[in-house]
Amino acid sequence: MGSTIPLFKEQSLFVRTKKVLPWILYALLPLALLRLYFYPLPFPPSPETELPHSSTPITITTHSSLSSSSSSSSSSSTPPLFSSPSSTSEKEKGGGDDENERGCDYFNGEWVRDLRGPLYNGSTCSTIKEGQNCFKHGRPDSGYLYWRWKPNRCNLPRFDPNAFLQLIRNNHIAFVGDSMARNQLESLLCMLSTVSEPKLVYRNGEDNKFRKWQFVSHNASVSVYWSPFLVHGVEKSSSGPNHNVLYLDRVDERWGKDMDQIDLLVLSIGHWFLHPAVYYEGGSVLGCHYCPGLNHTEIGFYDVLRKALRTTLSSIIERRGGGGGRENNNGIDVIVTTFSPAHFEGEWDKAGACPKTKPFRNREKEVEGMDADMRKIEIEEVEDAKGRGKEFEGFRLEALDVTKLALLRPDGHPGPYMYPFPFANGVRERVQNDCVHWCLPGPIDTWNEIFLEMMKKWERTAME
Ligand SMILES: *[C@@H]1O[C@H](CO)[C@@H](O)[C@H](O)[C@H]1NC(C)=O
Ligand SMILES: *[C@@H]1O[C@H](CO)[C@@H](O)[C@H](O)[C@H]1NC(C)=O
Ligand SMILES: *[C@@H]1O[C@H](CO)[C@@H](O)[C@H](O)[C@H]1NC(C)=O
Repeated sequence: MGSTIPLFKEQSLFVRTKKVLPWILYALLPLALLRLYFYPLPFPPSPETELPHSSTPITITTHSSLSSSSSSSSSSSTPPLFSSPSSTSEKEKGGGDDENERGCDYFNGEWVRDLRGPLYNGSTCSTIKEGQNCFKHGRPDSGYLYWRWKPNRCNLPRFDPNAFLQLIRNNHIAFVGDSMARNQLESLLCMLSTVSEPKLVYRNGEDNKFRKWQFVSHNASVSVYWSPFLVHGVEKSSSGPNHNVLYLDRVDERWGKDMDQIDLLVLSIGHWFLHPAVYYEGGSVLGCHYCPGLNHTEIGFYDVLRKALRTTLSSIIERRGGGGGRENNNGIDVIVTTFSPAHFEGEWDKAGACPKTKPFRNREKEVEGMDADMRKIEIEEVEDAKGRGKEFEGFRLEALDVTKLALLRPDGHPGPYMYPFPFANGVRERVQNDCVHWCLPGPIDTWNEIFLEMMKKWERTAME
């Protein structure tokens, strides 16, 4: 916290008092719900739309001299759950000192110019979700497409769709999680479809939340399961309660029931944990996050994210760990994609909420605040589950630690181009912005480049 965002210098007083939160915009949710995630709002606050400062996990303090008085008063009312200063700007784990191509730390590096551009574009790939098809929606700049991720001490090879398909031959990969999981899946589909056409073989749920494709050429399947908590949960709805309900001790069987038919799982969650929710564990209420009017204890969402991941990874180990190992082709690989920071710089419904057109330099921005805390929990739970799963040959688990490389890409979001030609009739007073998801093509393609390298490494290790 406390980092200076130069853009804000002149507005810092405004921003300071407004406590702009990098809360989440979900294109999947109705507009009414959006109001909840961005506090405060230009329209009159109501009990449902107001998020109290005490539940504020992060405040953007933009100018140290100004922030000292007022933001410390707000952070002093922040429950201990929300602050873990030790995690701020934490150095990445992994990698080690013997960095060669094999032991490369892919998660620290820099975005560098690359004139080659993406493997696909918004008119060649047919599976891009509308809200992320920035090209088709008239985003005028294209510079954000010409960067590649350069890890500090090695090179990240360009995505090779044939190599990827070869590695998943006869296998089923499932992306499970929230809309970030879907975003990553759609990037992968676009890149793979440059060499082999995916065939949609299953589709279910509102907004195609459950889908499966086959790559007949390689007898491989790729699917996506909507499960924003991974554990069993009931998402808030306009007809039901105005908060989510999570059951932290059991996995969501919408995907869990298919676990024995999945060879590789990519889990990606995080943003939905910020929403108001009531949590159950062992049949009784454990607490809640922002549930005024309900007689539950506020426990924040960090421990909840931790429990949800632990339950999920434990269930996978239980159900699949002892399943027979690699040689029977009966193991399971699990990738946990870490938290991908949002880049709201101002009001979410004003033009220019994420206006940058270039990446940050490596040192310009550190992972901190809520982004760091969410990531840290995910990394810790992955490490913990690795320990628990060690005895099982058929179980492999790694974190796809994208938090830093994502943080450095404020330029990669749809912003107002989540909708087609938002300024066709001039710049309006209000315009919705998506500064959370990624344009396709866009920086998220790199997640899958690293994903492929992780799979290659597994393959090499298995052959040794
Ligand atoms: C998209 O890619 C196709 C095939 O490479 C190319 O013909 C087309 O011009 C591209 N479109 C844009 C807008 O870049
Ligand atoms: C295709 O993959 C499935 C597993 O996903 C396997 O059971 C089946 O034998 C494979 N078919 C061929 C022809 O290899
Ligand atoms: C709230 O919960 C406490 C402890 O469970 C209980 O004593 C109290 O009566 C409850 N209050 C209301 C209004 O339900």
